[in-house]
Amino acid sequence: MRYGILKLLKEAGSDYITGVDIGTRFGISRSAVWKHIIELRNEGYDIESSPNKGYRLLPGGELLNPFEIMDGLGTKIAGTEVVYFDEIASTNTHAAKLAADGCAEGTAVVAGTQTHGRGRLGRSWESPKGKGIYLSIILRPPMAPAETPVFTLAAAVAAVRAIYDVTGLRTGIKWPNDIIYEGKKISGILLEMNSEAEMVNWLILGIGVNYSQTESDFPEEIRDRAVSILSASGEGTPWKDAPHGQGSAPGEDLHHVLRGGHDGRAGRLALIRALLRRIDDIYQDILNGKNAGILDEWRKHSVTLGREVRFTLKNTEYTGTAADIIENGSLLVDCSDGVRRELHSGEISIRGIFGYSD
Ligand code: ATP
Ligand code: BTN
Repeated sequence: MRYGILKLLKEAGSDYITGVDIGTRFGISRSAVWKHIIELRNEGYDIESSPNKGYRLLPGGELLNPFEIMDGLGTKIAGTEVVYFDEIASTNTHAAKLAADGCAEGTAVVAGTQTHGRGRLGRSWESPKGKGIYLSIILRPPMAPAETPVFTLAAAVAAVRAIYDVTGLRTGIKWPNDIIYEGKKISGILLEMNSEAEMVNWLILGIGVNYSQTESDFPEEIRDRAVSILSASGEGTPWKDAPHGQGSAPGEDLHHVLRGGHDGRAGRLALIRALLRRIDDIYQDILNGKNAGILDEWRKHSVTLGREVRFTLKNTEYTGTAADIIENGSLLVDCSDGVRRELHSGEISIRGIFGYSD
């Protein structure tokens, strides 16, 4: 109910709506309307009340909550349900519990911070409060486990598109699905699956985006390898001219949006919505058998293909040139010993493509 009132206030823009009008609309008394207004204010919304004119919502107060994330989102599956936590151990871990309890496909879990954010290969993911995006989406693709590796590549393509939609930043993909800006990691993806032999029960697509960290916010070990959206964007970037296509964030002045609200909350909200839209689009593509197009787009954004890479397999270190990816998500590497090797994502980390020695 209170979000119904909020919606009404949003639609009214800078106009006032009287308590009587709101009450009539929802069939409640003026004092009940007042109680809801108090609740919304307690949540953090800035609502002005004037004895003669009624109520109006003051701009710039977007919050990260399920209502704001879902309102007018227009997706078929991703984000049709959203749960939000100020703090949680890991959105992926929680999403797996919801999936096991039979939640609807497309349910998204969003958090303000994670105490045990998880990365690929058993690593942890730094998830400082209010400075990143921590998002997990539950999908139930009607397919066999062997058909799912394309999701690894698709999730990265969706993230690149969403970041571009909202910020105009052109990011690249490091195999299999790290999102890179000028050699540093801006976003990471953790895909987890639960399945029977022949059928997927659910997939959890987890995305972490560094949003507003400054260099000193990152732990020293990753300081030279991590970057945030805001620090990548820099001051003076011509946001107004930034192209933004379908699925883009609202707001004519993107610079204002990105830095808007407490801790860039408006920008995080816009990016979460763009991620949900882009994941929704690409999920439809997968369901419609358009995997080849996804692989092509992955190749286009890749910062790995054509580069020298290093990796360790069974205690032996190899070097070679990353030649291509194939539909099962594997990277083909032409190794210096003349052998072409197929590296499976989820098992291996490649090195040596960044602009620093590692
Ligand atoms: P990967 O094997 O996942 O492709 P990597 O081994 O190349 O990555 P580096 O980029 O060299 O990793 O180092 C960064 C490490 O820090 C990665 O393991 C990355 O997942 C981890 N990390 C943890 N939190 C963050 C964060 N918020 N932003 C960027 N990196 C993070
Ligand atoms: C990686 O690059 O290693 C993957 C990082 C994935 C981090 C995200 S944050 C939201 C979701 N919940 C988690 O615990 N991990 C993913």
